[in-house]
Amino acid sequence: INNIIQFSEKLLENKTSKLQGERVCILTPNDNRFISCLHAAWLCGAIAVPLSPKHQSTELEYVVKNSRAKVVISTPEFFTVVEKMQKNIDFDHVKVDDLNENPMNSNDTSETFPFLPIEHDNKPSLILYTSGTTGSPKGVLFNHSNLKVQTQSLIKSWEISPSDVLLHVLPLHHIHGLVNGLLTPLSIGAKVVMDPSFHARKVWSHLLDENSTSKSRVNVFMAVPTIYTKLIQYFDKHNMCPEDTRRKCKDIRLMVSGSAALPLPVLEKWKEITGHMLLERYGMTEFGMGITNSYRGIRVPGSVGLPFPHVQAKIAASDEHGNPHYSRYYTYAMFQCYWDNVKATEETFVDGWFKTGDTGVFENGAFRIVGRTSVDIIKSGGYKLSALDIERDLLEHSDITEVSVIGVPDDVWGQKVTAIIALKETSRLNKTELLEWCRSRMASYKVPREFMFVKKIPRNAMGKVNKKNLLKNLVSN
Ligand SMILES: *[C@@H]1O[C@H](CO)[C@@H](O)[C@H](O)[C@H]1NC(C)=O
Ligand SMILES: *[C@@H]1O[C@H](CO)[C@@H](O)[C@H](O)[C@H]1NC(C)=O
Ligand SMILES: *[C@@H]1O[C@H](CO)[C@@H](O)[C@H](O)[C@H]1NC(C)=O
Ligand SMILES: *[C@@H]1O[C@H](CO)[C@@H](O)[C@H](O)[C@H]1NC(C)=O
Repeated sequence: INNIIQFSEKLLENKTSKLQGERVCILTPNDNRFISCLHAAWLCGAIAVPLSPKHQSTELEYVVKNSRAKVVISTPEFFTVVEKMQKNIDFDHVKVDDLNENPMNSNDTSETFPFLPIEHDNKPSLILYTSGTTGSPKGVLFNHSNLKVQTQSLIKSWEISPSDVLLHVLPLHHIHGLVNGLLTPLSIGAKVVMDPSFHARKVWSHLLDENSTSKSRVNVFMAVPTIYTKLIQYFDKHNMCPEDTRRKCKDIRLMVSGSAALPLPVLEKWKEITGHMLLERYGMTEFGMGITNSYRGIRVPGSVGLPFPHVQAKIAASDEHGNPHYSRYYTYAMFQCYWDNVKATEETFVDGWFKTGDTGVFENGAFRIVGRTSVDIIKSGGYKLSALDIERDLLEHSDITEVSVIGVPDDVWGQKVTAIIALKETSRLNKTELLEWCRSRMASYKVPREFMFVKKIPRNAMGKVNKKNLLKNLVSN
């Protein structure tokens, strides 16, 4: 710990007093240098703003400008990028150029490293930028106690303990990778093994404990549905043996999926090859994790369970047909405001409750997320359809690897159910056959009116499809 303090003093030499409440952007690979930089920023009383190493310079510049950052900390991989930004924007560039200075100088496993006591609970701590499906990305501002409430709640509900070893493969500029995957285990002294970039082979090797050093056997894994899909594809491609993988995955105690809806076939296949029923939960940048399936009790496939103890959730409005409209949240983990955006902040709260913009239902004692109200609820020929339900149905087809269902404006139908589909490389499925397949198993009003075959569906870093963009591209073509 002393090393970390020395490191941060050195890193932000003589800037400490000047950085109170200022924004410090951090641009590093997804490795332990990020953790040192984050602590350095917090020790100075600054608001940390993680930047994505995958973003293009225009996206980076947007965040640096929008947050009005005083400092950008970067590692050698990004010196050139940051220096280029300095031509347009005024900030100090703090370079972490000597890896040996890093107090956590090992590439793989972070040392057991409890959070430093940071004695400014009231102060703002972090800005995360939302992916911005509508308009420009918005900065979501948290105070320190927001993060504390979030991490403590996950520790309790998922029974995270100092003996855990979490395998980390997620981006650090999102709530899932930063709060769930990093701050939560570190705050209780658990270990984190960071894989700076995702390789299916390496992840499997960790999950199966192939380079066994019993000391750091991975036993917790958190990922997004696309990662589970890639791991399954790797499994199939390499004819791995399910008995073998199931046996070796016995030592893992928790596998979580979130950030996007988990297709049922993925959940089932994962269970078959690892013996693990993925724990699905629901969250959003603005309030962190909101709803979770139970760690010890029943996990209902396709549902997200019940609110965390620190959260209250309600389905707030119904339309004229009694269809549930939004879910809303109330929690001490709630963000403070959208950075420099009073209007957006005001619009998103109703009577102190945060309006999620998701449609949800409560059934069989658990919440189920039907989709984003704006894009996933399709009104077609008098029916109100869930795009996610139709996607789930289509994914049952063994030739389909990816699908995104959208409602395209249409004079006859109001919205026309359109399925954008990626097939297995070897597949020869054509539209006529697919249509027949759909008709044989789906209610007629749910059968897509149009199919489009694509090689790959564009997704953001968390595996989410931006349906508004998809629709825009489709309509403009
Ligand atoms: C930092 O401040 C100390 C005294 O407070 C001073 O001696 C030193 O030169 C300063 N370093 C820089 C880089 O300004
Ligand atoms: C970390 O990785 C870098 C490059 O991949 C390598 O040069 C360095 O030796 C590694 N350091 C340690 C401590 O393993
Ligand atoms: C931090 O945020 C929470 C929830 O938004 C709020 O209840 C709390 O009062 C905030 N802390 C301070 C000191 O402002
Ligand atoms: C689709 O595939 C089926 C079966 O292989 C074939 O009979 C049919 O002619 C194909 N249709 C088109 C439009 O290619």
